[in-house]
Parts: sequence; structure tokens; C-alpha cells
Amino acid sequence: MDTKNTSMPPLRGKIIPTNGDSSAMARQIADFLENTDFSQMQESVEKLKSLMSCYQCALLEVETKFRVLNEQFSLRHERNPIDSIKTRMKSPESIREKLVRKNLPINFHSVESEISDIAGIRVICAFVDDIYMLADCLLQQDDITLIERQDYIAHPKESGYRSLHLVVEVPIFLQDEKKFMKVEVQLRTIAMEFWANLEHKLRYKKNLPENLATLIAAELTECAEMSAQLDVKMQKVRDVIENG
Ligand code: GTP
Ligand code: MG
Repeated sequence: MDTKNTSMPPLRGKIIPTNGDSSAMARQIADFLENTDFSQMQESVEKLKSLMSCYQCALLEVETKFRVLNEQFSLRHERNPIDSIKTRMKSPESIREKLVRKNLPINFHSVESEISDIAGIRVICAFVDDIYMLADCLLQQDDITLIERQDYIAHPKESGYRSLHLVVEVPIFLQDEKKFMKVEVQLRTIAMEFWANLEHKLRYKKNLPENLATLIAAELTECAEMSAQLDVKMQKVRDVIENG
């Protein structure tokens, strides 16, 4: 299973690597705090570092849960439902941008209460039914609370975008406290990932005349439909192989 911490292009805004480039993180934190009173700066930097570290821990918890499910399923059924897992942390700069975009005050309270995709995990599956099976297994676990569910597979976006999005809350156990953190989970097939990555790259190509952009958007929506049909066919082929 490919489990690299790669960047996740279709997620909006700048990202920071989850493998902890501390100088990049320091720069991002300084940007995030540019309007903060200098005397409070040190305290705020420490607070933000600790908050980001909590999100990182929550990401590890959820990633481990998916790895365990994958392992268990592969023992029982001799195949892996998960093709790959990608994780990413939203950068302080992107968090700030999102707060501004949503007209929210730039403080720690709004970060924790309003932004649910600071810790993001993407689980890429071979088949559509594995997506729902994994989501159900995760949500049945008694330490996981579902905050939000958006099924863009049953109800694709106008662009053609498909994925199952969950926002869950997971407890993390620190030295002297238990903290509940939100994690955004995106579950999609290999075909949905392929489409979303290409669509994201093409959508952000600059200087396209409006009529061409409209044409391309329509073409991409059609590609998404074709890709969804491919997912259905592949699943049928698998069923024939598995059930004879
Ligand atoms: P935010 O407040 O920005 O999270 O808005 P939202 O909650 O309405 O966003 P939504 O749940 O629709 O999308 C969140 C993420 O899904 C994005 O950051 C992308 O990673 C992905 N996504 C959503 N729509 C599209 C799309 O049309 N194309 C691609 N490539 N990705 C998409
Ligand atoms: Mg969202």
C-alpha cells in the first residue's frame, strides 16, 4: 500500500508537509500572526504550535484506524480495500485565508470551532462499495463522533466531483488531558482521485477565454460520468470474480 505523506493538490489553499518542516512552519506561523501584538506573539506562537500538533496527533489516530481496518479486511478477504492514504495539514496561512473568506474573526476560538479541515486525510479505494464499508466501520467505533457527512458520490457536484466527505471528532490523549479534535476524511476511488487531480490542474490554468473555459468544464463533467461508469463496471467484474 502506498502510504506516503504526499501533498494533496485538490485541497484548497497552501499546504504544509506533515513530515514537519519546522522552518516552513515557523514562517507560516509568523504570517498567521502578522497582526498580533508583539508582546503576545511568543505566547500565541506556542499556542498555535501546540494546537497544530494536536491536529497532527488526531490525523495519526485516524490514519491508524484505517490501516487497522485495511489489515483486518485483507486477512479475511485476501484483498486490500485501501489502495493508498494521503494526509495533509492545512497551513496557518491557509487557515487565515479561510477565516477571512468566511468573514470570521482571526482567533483561536474560530479556528477550532469553524474550520473543520485543518487535519485532512484522503483514503483511496479500488471500489466504491469499499468506501461505504470503510466509512461505516470508522463511524461504528465508539471513540469517533460524526460531525458532518457529505456524499458527493450519491450526489455529485455540478463539476462532476465525486467523493465521500466526513468530518469526525476523535479524542487524543495528551500527557495530562484528553482533547477532541476534528479531522476531515475524504474517501474516493482511484478513478475519482485521477479525475479530481486532473480537473484541479486544468481548472486553475490561467487566461482561458470564457467560452473555452465553459466548454472545458462541460467536457470534464462528461469525463466524470465516464469515470463513474468505469467504477461501476470494475466493481461488477470484481463481483463476478469473487462470487463466481
Ligand atoms: P470549505 O469551507 O472550503 O471546506 O467548503 P465546503 O465544505 O463547501 O467544501 P467541500 O466539502 O465542497 O469541498 C472540500 C474539498 O473537496 C475541497 O477542498 C477539494 O479538495 C474537494 N473538492 C470539492 N469540490 C471539488 C471539485 O469540484 N473539484 C475538485 N478537484 N475537488 C473538489
Ligand atoms: Mg468542507
